Amino acid sequence: MRFTVAIDGPAAAGKGTIGRAVAGHFGFGHLDTGLLYRAVGARMLAGEKAEDAARDLTPEHLANPDELRTAEVAQAASRVAVIPEVRAYLLDFQRAFAHRVGGAVLDGRDIGTVICPRAEVKLFVTASAEVRAKRRMDELQGRGQAADFDTVLADVKARDARDAERATAPMVAAEDALVLDTSDLSIEEAVAAAIAAVEARRAG
Ligand code: CDP
Repeated sequence: MRFTVAIDGPAAAGKGTIGRAVAGHFGFGHLDTGLLYRAVGARMLAGEKAEDAARDLTPEHLANPDELRTAEVAQAASRVAVIPEVRAYLLDFQRAFAHRVGGAVLDGRDIGTVICPRAEVKLFVTASAEVRAKRRMDELQGRGQAADFDTVLADVKARDARDAERATAPMVAAEDALVLDTSDLSIEEAVAAAIAAVEARRAG
């Protein structure tokens, strides 16, 4: 069985949490595509050319995801993500994952629009910038990283603007996506809404 769930949305909206939970519930695989861009961004910070880093990316570069989940690497990720060649090098891996037998959940910015335009379910998960900044600050602090609200909020807004305004594969809700605003939802409520959307499609 092939079944693809595409989850897109702005920075720190909860795509990863929802994606993992949906995948766990249905026994699907889960790919956090942001990690691919973060891995390329980290290698650019280490001095490599972004296009070369994307071309040569291997699963080992994703082996320590927590090292990639820093504010500095997030900004680098959104800078390399505007480069069309970088996006092109990462396309096949993402599409192959989406078509895996057993079902797949991918979260990112362009999954429902570019990577998997025919996904069975498309969600666009969002929340106010303030709510997202608070969640990201708590997450970073929980991993022992220094993070203050104003800096995190500015980072989130800068990244959203760059991701939405780029020419190639900009962040935008697909026309047929269900928009899920999680500003006033608990994690459990957001996950339940996402699971219900998948169940409705599977039943129909
Ligand atoms: O976790 P968070 O939502 O903060 O970010 P992420 O999903 O890890 O993505 C990091 C950066 O990678 C984003 O700001 C985008 O610039 C880029 N990205 C992208 O362009 N396309 C994707 N499918 C996923 C991420």
